[in-house]
Amino acid sequence: MTHLDIGYDDGDVDTNRSTAPHLADLVAERYSRRQTLMGGISAMATAVFGGVMLSGCGDGDDDDGGAASGLSVTATASGATTAGRIVTLTGTVSGGAADSVGWEQTSGPTVALMNAGTSVATFVAPAVAAATELGFRFNARARDLTSVSATVTVSAGAPALGFTAIAKSLADTVAVPAGYSVTVLYRLGDPIAAGVGAYANTGADGNFAQRAGDHHDGMSYFGLAASGNAPDPTSNTRGLLVLNHENITQVYLHPNGPTTTGGVRPEAEALKEIEAHGVSVIEVSRASAAGTWSYSAISALNRRITPNTPMAFSGPVRGDANLRTAFSPDGTAGRGTINNCANGTMPWRTYLTNEENWAGYFRRTAGDAAVRTAAGQSRQNSSLARYGITEGRTGNYGWSTVAAATAGDTRFRRWNATATAGVAAEADFRNEPFQFGWVVEIDPFDPASTPRKRTALGRMNHEGCEVGRTIAGVRPAFYMGDDAQNEYVYKFVSAQPWSAADATRSDRLAVGDKYLDAGTLYVARFDASGQGQWLPLVFGQGPLTQANGFTSQADVLINARLAGDALGATRMDRPEWTAVNPATGEMYLTLTNNSSRTAAGVDAPNPRAYTDPKTDGRAAGTGNVNGHVIRLRESGDTSEATTFAWDIYAFGAGADLDPSTINLSGLDQTNDFSSPDGLWFGLPSNPSGQVTPVMWIQTDDGAYTDVTNCMMLAAIPGTVGDGGTRTVTSTLNGVTNSVTTRIGRAPGATLRRFLVGPKQCEITGIHSTPDGRSLFVNIQHPGEDGSIAGITSNWPANQGGTAAAGQRPRSATIVITRDDGGVVGL
Ligand code: FEO
Ligand code: CA
Ligand code: CA
Repeated sequence: MTHLDIGYDDGDVDTNRSTAPHLADLVAERYSRRQTLMGGISAMATAVFGGVMLSGCGDGDDDDGGAASGLSVTATASGATTAGRIVTLTGTVSGGAADSVGWEQTSGPTVALMNAGTSVATFVAPAVAAATELGFRFNARARDLTSVSATVTVSAGAPALGFTAIAKSLADTVAVPAGYSVTVLYRLGDPIAAGVGAYANTGADGNFAQRAGDHHDGMSYFGLAASGNAPDPTSNTRGLLVLNHENITQVYLHPNGPTTTGGVRPEAEALKEIEAHGVSVIEVSRASAAGTWSYSAISALNRRITPNTPMAFSGPVRGDANLRTAFSPDGTAGRGTINNCANGTMPWRTYLTNEENWAGYFRRTAGDAAVRTAAGQSRQNSSLARYGITEGRTGNYGWSTVAAATAGDTRFRRWNATATAGVAAEADFRNEPFQFGWVVEIDPFDPASTPRKRTALGRMNHEGCEVGRTIAGVRPAFYMGDDAQNEYVYKFVSAQPWSAADATRSDRLAVGDKYLDAGTLYVARFDASGQGQWLPLVFGQGPLTQANGFTSQADVLINARLAGDALGATRMDRPEWTAVNPATGEMYLTLTNNSSRTAAGVDAPNPRAYTDPKTDGRAAGTGNVNGHVIRLRESGDTSEATTFAWDIYAFGAGADLDPSTINLSGLDQTNDFSSPDGLWFGLPSNPSGQVTPVMWIQTDDGAYTDVTNCMMLAAIPGTVGDGGTRTVTSTLNGVTNSVTTRIGRAPGATLRRFLVGPKQCEITGIHSTPDGRSLFVNIQHPGEDGSIAGITSNWPANQGGTAAAGQRPRSATIVITRDDGGVVGL
């Protein structure tokens, strides 16, 4: 009996051998409201009374300082505030009963008053750059139509984080600061179609094509109108939540873990595992602005996209010989997407899902290279090696070993990329690995739409793809990390300048065609000077010539890594998520860690190589163990730039580590972190994305896990260049080396720990409602190191309480809200 290696390889190996309404409308609305309230605008007189302004006005009467009815009012506010916080305005009436009361704003940046027609109104404080006064008036009208009013001012300061940092934790729960609540929304196995039963969570469930997949990851919220499938970008109560299912925790998907008897996987198990990957589109809603979020299990808008869902290729590689398979002899179509990590939220309301560690799923048997060479496909051997698909691989989870694969069922056969001697490439699946490694665009509003693989954005371990700011008439940029050790950072600049009208078109994938199929892909070189270059991946330019092995633009895009090598791109410490500050346009990038960074190999943008001690008996980690967050500012602040300035926003480290060599950002107990991965800025539609936006950092860590579970932090970062230079000395394995880097201002209290997750999870995936008052976050692979006999986490069954014994852990989406209704984080 052979034993099949069903292990999972995340591809983390070093294969890089190269060196609000318009003001006028609001004024009109305010006056009309006032007219309704007071029966007409009349002259007013005011007098100071008890710290508030008292005024009265009677219709047709222009001289009174008090109301004939004897009513008097006071107006008070809950105090000084900062962006995103709830302010309460309280009016009181004395001297009689008012016929009607109400609040109106009289000065300052316009805010939306809630319950304005009552004596207690509230509003969310706006984002302002410096202390600003907002004026409000409380009006009361007596039965005799005389009115009195009082005013109050509220001082709003610059945005600041509004919570107390939480402690590091090894507890099996999601912890958030005081004043916040967590709702578990969408868990592994939850049904998304009528007639699909509740998830038993025993390993017996199947049909993941109609259930939530596993390993929730990148995620976007798209607002929906009150009913139907029409987009409403202002909706805070109903939307489509789109999220990736990157991978699986295989052991918990089956009653007793995976079956590998005879080196063959059972078909039903393999199909379950395949379908638990991919993407979910689910309808989510809450009854009111303060209601509890839930998802609809029966919405017609729900959709699962799996590795078996039909896909179309788009862009320069469509139809290329390298994409031709027995499934798609003309190389224009394919099936599915896999290992979808981070996301991208397009301004035209589509979702980008990014294929990261896809390479590991392919089987490649010894002898394959020789067959390709004999068939004139030796270029593919160089490519496969550069992308980590070596001979002798079984492929993650052994799906191609299913008996049906041998009998010709291509759903399983396709995972064996070994070339068959003597047959055409279109007769087998040797080219299937070239169908993966792409950015994929999904129209979430049309469940029948075919997702498009956007080949102009290159082929790599795509972590994510996020768009920079869109400015009319300027070609937009899309920023991407290739997550493997010593890989590169890319940006794609559309050939087409942005047109704001495209944001509301209904033919969303056609808009994607416009911006994502033609343009220039660049790779980044970070220079020690603090400047950098975007190097174009254009066939025939620079070293990307036939003499150097490149054969076409399609070849350059398929082999983006080889092109980056030739161009001299900078080898980075595992580029993960990108995020663009909506106020400044600066692009931030997480570099999660790099165990192969050596002291001899440090450079200005990747300046640390060190030993990280462990307190739990594991061997010390080496290299850039804790990762860092780098950022760049495009020259001229334009997405079209080919040069930029960079510095390092923050270095991950335990607070107790040496501040001169490791803890370079001076992290303390409130904000120390390791292995940054997820990265996202608050939306510009609310105060968390305005003036000085909030940035969220999520960790996927295996280094600091002796001290804490993975976490999420909130930051209000500064700007590139707000710090200075620093010479960092690395000592590792007997080698000492110094390099001068660029480091931003120490974050201090502008970086705080907001959330800690359950055991053995990573925190990844984040988005919010347009108002920023509901934050969606994913908890991936809790208890991933456990076994059926030794379950290591019961989350989320135990969130807020105690789980029944033996509850298997489930990846899940949570919603975080502030109990007072304010903007999360501020
Ligand atoms: Fe799927 Fe690079 O994290
Ligand atoms: Ca990730
Ligand atoms: Ca990661």
